[in-house]
Amino acid sequence: MKRKSIIALPVALGLTLTAMPVATAESKPAHDNIITKRLSAERMMGHIETLSVDIGPRVASSPEEEEAAAYIAQTLQGYGFEVEIQEFPYENTVGYATLGDESLLVRAGGGSPLTQDGGITAPVVDAGLGHPEDFPAGTEGSIALIQRGEVTFAEMIANAEAAGAVGVLIANTDWNIFSASVPGAGIPFVTMNDEAGEQVRAAGGGPVTLEINRYDSSQNVIATRKPNNKNQDTGQITTFVAHYDSVPASPGANDNASGTASMLELARAYSSLPIATEVRFIAAGAEEVGLRGARHYVNELSQDEIDRIVANFNMDMTGTAGETQNTLYVNTLDGDNLVSQRSRSAAERLGYGGYINAPFHRGSSDHVPFHDVGIPAANHIWREPGTHALEPWYHTPHDTMEHISRERLLMATEIVAASSYSVARPERPGGN
Ligand code: BES
Ligand code: ZN
Repeated sequence: MKRKSIIALPVALGLTLTAMPVATAESKPAHDNIITKRLSAERMMGHIETLSVDIGPRVASSPEEEEAAAYIAQTLQGYGFEVEIQEFPYENTVGYATLGDESLLVRAGGGSPLTQDGGITAPVVDAGLGHPEDFPAGTEGSIALIQRGEVTFAEMIANAEAAGAVGVLIANTDWNIFSASVPGAGIPFVTMNDEAGEQVRAAGGGPVTLEINRYDSSQNVIATRKPNNKNQDTGQITTFVAHYDSVPASPGANDNASGTASMLELARAYSSLPIATEVRFIAAGAEEVGLRGARHYVNELSQDEIDRIVANFNMDMTGTAGETQNTLYVNTLDGDNLVSQRSRSAAERLGYGGYINAPFHRGSSDHVPFHDVGIPAANHIWREPGTHALEPWYHTPHDTMEHISRERLLMATEIVAASSYSVARPERPGGN
């Protein structure tokens, strides 16, 4: 693995730091202001609303993930970037349950058979806890709603099938979503939290449409802009990455419509700023299933591109309103690297020094594949100081707009803006 440092080249050549091809650490608040003043919290909230409310859960490889990619691509094209949709194979099973015209927040049961085109539409019967005697008359041909509690998942499905049900909705006893696996299940099933269970009960018999579909590809959206002024072009590349997929049954407002919105707003700011490095904005798909999109993107890079990428800025969960998640962690895997250093200095210059913890050792997001090929990379995420805890509704149906803080969203985005522009801006000796 080749490890790079932004100071390696000038030092090797015996040059002074001021001859470095990218901007030095001597950024001034005025340099920051050029970019931070362009950011709009309002516009970012609009992106979060489109992604988490209008589109909703964006499970890896699903049509909703693809719809989100199209929205992101269109937005970036509108800012004047050259945009590419980079598809890659990823097979995933996705569950849906619709009550009237309402989509319920559900997760496909592990081991569930797939449904045919259009799914199964049937009335719902309340089958209590799923004991054989809990299935009412009329279960034949219906979808059984079962409350998780006393019966194993495998028995619930077997009992429902024996009673003639054509599908099963398994509801939890609290607001968390959970996964259930019944290898070789005879009928399709999904899991949901107690609130969705109540929603179904309140509708008094449905009907519900249940779908278990298999999809086979996800995609990254890549927007690129090169410096206009060839004399200022260092030949280097600054990259940004944020995943736009979500876990099942979660609208993913904070994880990670927020980071996607931060990145779109940064792209808008960068679209008309002088730059000395190429800038690339990568909206990554299929992060929640193992960083698939970012890994695919990095695997497709040539060695020359890898060598020219000087920094990778990852944004994941930049807008939490969690009461105690008041510290922006800058997670790296190689200690204090260029990105964590620049983000820490940027926070201090912006007056946000008390809100940052940089660097902190942690992977778990799209900075990892970049780090793995030797690119200085860091993830920016709000967490609770001391415990490092994420918000309580992380990966649940409650990751919604109501739990987004526009102040934190703007603060995190301003820090990444000032930090990244200290890398990407042209040197203007005696200027500014
Ligand atoms: N945004 C989350 C979590 C996260 C936690 C990011 C800490 C960065 C630092 C991310 O989308 C996520 O859930 N990641 C997975 C790992 C991934 C490899 C599937 C996780 O932490 O479980
Ligand atoms: Zn995430």
